[in-house]
Amino acid sequence: MFSKRMILISIALLWMAALAFGEGAPANQNECIACHKKVTPGFVSDWGVSKHSEEDVTCSDCHGDKHKTAKDANLARLPDEQVCGECHEDQFDQFTRGKHNYGWRSMNALPITHMEPDELMEGSVGCGGCHNMGIKSAAEKKDRWDKGYRYQNNSCDECHTRHAFSKKEAQDPRACQQCHMGYDHPQWEMWSSSKHGTRFFVKQAGKLPEGAAAPTCQLCHMPDGTHENRTAWGFFGVRLPLPKDKQWAADRVIILKALGVLNPGTGKPTPRLEMMKSLHMIQFTEDAWKAEREKMIKICSRCHAGQYARHRLEMGDRMIKNADRLMAQGIKIVAALYKEGIIKKPDYYPFAYPDFLYFNQTGGSYIDQVLFRMYMKYRMRTYQGVFHANPDYVYWYGWAAMTKSLGEIQELDRTMRATHKVK
Ligand code: HEC
Ligand code: HEC
Ligand code: HEC
Ligand code: HEC
Ligand code: HEC
Ligand code: HEC
Ligand code: HEC
Ligand code: HEC
Repeated sequence: MFSKRMILISIALLWMAALAFGEGAPANQNECIACHKKVTPGFVSDWGVSKHSEEDVTCSDCHGDKHKTAKDANLARLPDEQVCGECHEDQFDQFTRGKHNYGWRSMNALPITHMEPDELMEGSVGCGGCHNMGIKSAAEKKDRWDKGYRYQNNSCDECHTRHAFSKKEAQDPRACQQCHMGYDHPQWEMWSSSKHGTRFFVKQAGKLPEGAAAPTCQLCHMPDGTHENRTAWGFFGVRLPLPKDKQWAADRVIILKALGVLNPGTGKPTPRLEMMKSLHMIQFTEDAWKAEREKMIKICSRCHAGQYARHRLEMGDRMIKNADRLMAQGIKIVAALYKEGIIKKPDYYPFAYPDFLYFNQTGGSYIDQVLFRMYMKYRMRTYQGVFHANPDYVYWYGWAAMTKSLGEIQELDRTMRATHKVK
C-alpha cells in the first residue's frame, strides 16, 4: 500500500515536527500554541499563514511570556507599535512622521470628545474606532487601562490585521474602507465609484490585463510603500496664509471663526490655533502646502499629462473657494441670530457664535445643526469629490446639498425672526 519512499518521507516529517514543537523550540512557544490551538484556534491558524510564523516570530515575541496558564491571561502583554518597531524600524519611523500618527491626539484635542460616552472614545465603538490610529503616550495608556479599556493598543494592525499581518491585505484599498467612508470623508465611496476604482475592480475580476493602470488609495497616498501620509489641504480644507483673493480671504476668516481658531469678536487667534498647528491639522505655510501638491502631481503624472493633473487639482482648489462663499453666508446668518439673542448660546460654547468643533452636540439650536451639516458633510464632499475624480459627489452630494442647506438656513432665519418679533 505505502511505498518505502512515502514511509521514509513521513518519518522525516514527523521528526521535523517533533523538532519544531519539541525540545528544539522555545518551551513557552510550544505551550502557547498547544493551549491556544484549543482556546483561540482561529488566531493560531491565522498566525500559521503569516510571514511571522515562517520566520519564527512567535506568540511570545509580541505578547511576552509572563502569562502561562488559563488563569493569568491578564499578564499577556498587548503589544503597541513600539513592539512592531523593534523589527520594522523603517515603517515605524515613517508612520511616526505621518498624519495617521495624529489620529488619537486630534480626536482627544476636540472639545466634543470629552462630552461623549467613554465607549465611543476609549471603547472604540465610535470616534475611537477610527482614531485608534496613532501612538498613545504612557499616560494615555494608563488612563485607558484605569477606565477598564484594555485593548486597541496598536495602530499597525488597522491595515495589516492580526494575526496574518499581511502586506497584500494592506495593499488592497479595502484596507482603508472601514475608516475612510461615510458622513464627512467618503473617500471609499468616491474612489470606488470613480473611473480609478472601477478600473481596479474590473481588473481584479480579470477583465483587464494585469498591466492595466488602476490607481489605488495606496498608490496615491502611500507611494512606494511609505508609511508617511499627508495631503495638501487635509481634512478641514482651510490653510494659512490667507489667499490673495479678497473675497475668499474674508470667507476663510469667517470659517476660521466658526472653527473657533479666531476669536469671533476681535479676530485674534485663540489657543485652538496652536492646537491645530501642533497636530498638523492645517498647513501654515505656502511652501508646506506646495510641497504636498507637487508630490501629488508627480504621482498623477505616472499616467496623466502633468498639466492635465495640475489643472484638475486646481479645479479642486477653486471648488473650495466656491464652497467657502456659500459657507460664509450661512455662518453670517446664524452668527447674527446669536448676536441678537434670537438663539441662545449653549453653555459649553466659548462664544455666542457657531462652533464646528462641537460636532452637533445636543442642546444647540436646529439652524446651527443645519449649518454644521453644511460644513462637515456637504462642503467636504464638494472638493473631496473633485480630488477623487467623482462627478456625482461633487454635484449632488456636495454642491447641490450646500445650496439647499443655505436655502433652508435663509428660510429658518426668516421664520425665526418673524416669530421672535411676535413674542
Ligand atoms: C494553559 C493554556 C494557556 C497557555 C499555556 C497560554 N495561554 Fe494565552 N490564554 C489562555 C486563556 C484561557 C486565555 C483567555 C481567553 C479568554 O478570555 O477567553 C488566554 C488569553 C491570552 C491572550 C489575550 C489576553 C487578553 O488580554 O485578552 C493572549 C495575548 C495570550 N493568551 C497569549 C499567550 C501567549 C503568548 C502564551 C505563551 C507565552 C500563552 N498565551 C499561553 C490560555 C493559555
Ligand atoms: C507580530 C506580533 C504578534 C504575534 C506574533 C502574535 N500576536 Fe496576538 N496580538 C497582537 C496584537 C497587535 C494584538 C492586539 C493588541 C491590542 O488590541 O491591544 C494581539 C492580540 C491578541 C489576542 C487578544 C485580542 C483578541 O482579538 O482576542 C490574543 C488572544 C492573541 N493575540 C493571541 C495570540 C497567539 C495565541 C499568538 C501565537 C499563535 C499570537 N497572538 C501572536 C500581535 C501579535
Ligand atoms: C521579532 C521581530 C518581529 C516583530 C516583533 C514583528 N515582526 Fe513583522 N516581520 C518580521 C519578519 C522577520 C518578517 C519577514 C521579513 C519581512 O518581510 O520583513 C516580518 C514581516 C512582516 C510583514 C510583511 C508580511 C508580508 O505579507 O510580506 C508585516 C506587514 C509585518 N511584519 C508587520 C508587523 C507588525 C504589525 C508587528 C507588530 C504587531 C510586527 N510585524 C512585529 C519580524 C517581526
Ligand atoms: C483605523 C482607521 C483608518 C484606516 C484603516 C486608514 N485610515 Fe487614513 N486616516 C485615519 C484617521 C483617523 C485620519 C486623520 C488623522 C489625523 O488626525 O490627522 C487619517 C488620515 C489619512 C490621510 C491624511 C489626510 C490629511 O489630513 O492630509 C490620508 C492620506 C489617509 N488617511 C490615507 C489612508 C489610506 C490610503 C489608508 C489605507 C491604506 C488609510 N488611510 C487607512 C484613519 C484610518
Ligand atoms: C469612520 C471612522 C471615523 C469616525 C467614526 C470618526 N472619525 Fe474623525 N476622521 C476619520 C478620518 C478617516 C479622518 C481623516 C479624513 C480626511 O482627511 O478626509 C478624520 C479626521 C478627523 C479630524 C481632523 C484631523 C486632522 O488632522 O485634520 C478630527 C479632529 C476628527 N476626525 C475627530 C473625530 C471625532 C471627535 C469623532 C467622533 C465624534 C470622529 N472624528 C469620528 C475617521 C473617523
Ligand atoms: C494605513 C495603512 C497601514 C498602516 C497603519 C500600517 N501599514 Fe504597513 N503597509 C501598508 C501598505 C499599503 C504596505 C505595502 C507597501 C508596498 O506596497 O510596498 C505595508 C507594508 C508593510 C511592511 C512590509 C514591507 C515590505 O516591503 O516588505 C511592513 C513590515 C509593515 N508594513 C509594517 C508596519 C508597521 C510596523 C506598522 C505600524 C507602525 C504599519 N505597517 C502600519 C499599510 C499600512
Ligand atoms: C488618483 C490618486 C488618488 C487616489 C486613487 C485616492 N486619492 Fe485620496 N487624494 C488624492 C488627492 C489629489 C487629494 C487632495 C490633495 C490635496 O489636498 O491637494 C486626496 C485627498 C485625500 C484625503 C484628504 C481629504 C480629501 O479627501 O481631500 C484623504 C483622507 C484621502 N485622499 C484618502 C483616500 C483614500 C482612503 C483613498 C482610497 C479609497 C484615496 N484617497 C484614493 C488623490 C487620490
Ligand atoms: C496609475 C495610473 C493613473 C494615475 C496615477 C492617475 N490616474 Fe487618473 N485615470 C487613469 C485612467 C486609466 C483613467 C480612465 C481614463 C478614461 O476614462 O478613459 C483615469 C481617469 C481619470 C479621471 C476621469 C476623467 C475621464 O476622462 O473620465 C480624472 C479626473 C483623473 N483620472 C484624474 C487624476 C488625477 C488628478 C490623478 C492624480 C491625483 C490621477 N488621475 C492619477 C489612470 C491614472
